[in-house]
Amino acid sequence: MRSARQPQRNSLSAMLLAGLLLFMPLAGPAEDHDPIAERQRLMSETREALKPLIGMSRGQLDFDRDTVQTSLAVFAHTADESRDLYPDGTQSGGDTEAKATIWSDRAGFDQALTDFSEAVAAAQQADPQTAEAFQPVLRSVLGTCRACHDGYRIDKD
Ligand code: HEC
Repeated sequence: MRSARQPQRNSLSAMLLAGLLLFMPLAGPAEDHDPIAERQRLMSETREALKPLIGMSRGQLDFDRDTVQTSLAVFAHTADESRDLYPDGTQSGGDTEAKATIWSDRAGFDQALTDFSEAVAAAQQADPQTAEAFQPVLRSVLGTCRACHDGYRIDKD
């Protein structure tokens, strides 16, 4: 019995060790991660998550409470992650559309992020059950996207 269990335990700790080694480089210095690419990827995800919500608000898609909550969770994730993705030195390059005002008015940018996450949290809390109830909730979230883009994003389109 004992000899049968022992190898299993060994292979388990070997797996744990391999897992640790695998994750160590990920927690290492920031050199190998690109904040510009990462913040653009998050914003693209945000746009994709917004699409079904726009469809619902226009009546092109049936209202679906779960889809709303799933998209709001993507927005919340973007809001949380974005705060650290505009470090000094990423003002240019990588085809960035970030405006210089992010760095000259960091407090304003941080406030715009806070407004966004608060609007998203309020929408999650409101948990609208109908298309009608959803409209003002979506509008208030989109207002915070627009406010930030107006002040802190170069519109190249
Ligand atoms: C607090 C500021 C802020 C908020 C809030 C915000 N954005 Fe952005 N967004 C930016 C900035 C800055 C960029 C440019 C990033 C870059 O190119 O480095 C951007 C870029 C984008 C892009 C282009 C991404 C790409 O492919 O380069 C899309 C799409 C986008 N945002 C959608 C949204 C949507 C939709 C919301 C709301 C649900 C939102 N954003 C909320 C600041 C914000």
